Amino acid sequence: MGNPVAHSRSPAIHARFAELTGESLTYERRLVPMDGFAQGVREFATQGGRGCNVTVPFKIDAPGLATESSARVQLAGAANTLTFRADGSIYADNTDGLGLVADITRNAGVSLAGRDVLMVGAGGAAAGVLGPLLLAGVRHITVANRTLEKAQALVQSHSALATLQKSELVALTPQAVEADFDVIINATATSLAGAGVPVAPRVLRPGSLAYDMMYGPAAQAFLDWARQHGATPRDGLGMLVEQAAEAFLLWRGVRPPSAQVLQEMQQAT
Ligand code: ATR
Repeated sequence: MGNPVAHSRSPAIHARFAELTGESLTYERRLVPMDGFAQGVREFATQGGRGCNVTVPFKIDAPGLATESSARVQLAGAANTLTFRADGSIYADNTDGLGLVADITRNAGVSLAGRDVLMVGAGGAAAGVLGPLLLAGVRHITVANRTLEKAQALVQSHSALATLQKSELVALTPQAVEADFDVIINATATSLAGAGVPVAPRVLRPGSLAYDMMYGPAAQAFLDWARQHGATPRDGLGMLVEQAAEAFLLWRGVRPPSAQVLQEMQQAT
C-alpha cells in the first residue's frame, strides 16, 4: 500500500517467495489516496486481507493504525509491515533495517561489527534502519543531514540504544564530515531529485562499501560517484528483497530463499 506503487517490485518478489516455499499467497499493489491510508487498511482487512507492506508516504502513519508495535517500530517511528490478526488486531513491524543489515552482511559479505558508518540523510528511510545498524554492533555512526536538526533528533531518539550497544552516535551537516568510513549509506532522496551526491569524496576509503538504499536509475549517480572514487558500490535491491523476506517470515512463519531470489533479479536486470 502506498502512493505511488506502480513501480513496486514487491509483488514479483513475494510471488517468487511463495512459489519457492510452496505457500499460497496473493500479493498485489494497492494505490491509496494521499488522505485515505487508514480507510484503505480498514477496507483491505474487511475484504479478507491478512496483512500488507506499507510504503511511501504512509510508513509514519502505519504505527498509528496498529494495536501493537514492535520495539523496532517504536524506535523508528515508522512501520513497513502490518499483520492483520484473526482477532481483528493489527501488529506493526519494520523490516527495512533488518533487510539492510542482512544485505550488507550476508549478501555483500561485509561485516558491520566494529565498523564506522556514515548515514547520509535523516528522513524516514534513515530512521527505519538506524536501530538495526546499532544492534549489528557498529562502532560508530555519523548521521549527516542537510537539515542538522533532523539528524540531531534522530541521534537523540537512538542515544539510549547507542549507549547500550557501546556505539558512538554523532549528528553533523554533510559539509562538516571530516572523517572517512568503512560503510557509507545514502538514505537521501537526492538521486530522485536529480541533485548531486550530498557528501565529499573524502568520506570514502579505498574499498569502502558505498550503499544506496534506492535501486535502479535512482541510485545510479551515487553508485557512479562511489566507483569513481575507489569505493565498492551497492544498490538497495538486496535490501528490498531481504526486507520482503522478513515480512514473509512474519506473515507465514517460513523464511524464503532470499539470496536466490536476489540473484535471479540481478540476472534479470
Ligand atoms: P524518506 O522517507 O525517503 O527518507 P524524507 O523523509 O523526505 O524521505 O527524507 C529525505 C532525505 O533526503 C532527508 O534527509 C533530506 O534532507 P533534509 O532533511 O535536509 O530535507 C534529504 N534530501 C533531499 N533532497 C536533498 C538534497 N538536494 N540535498 C541533500 N539532502 C537532501
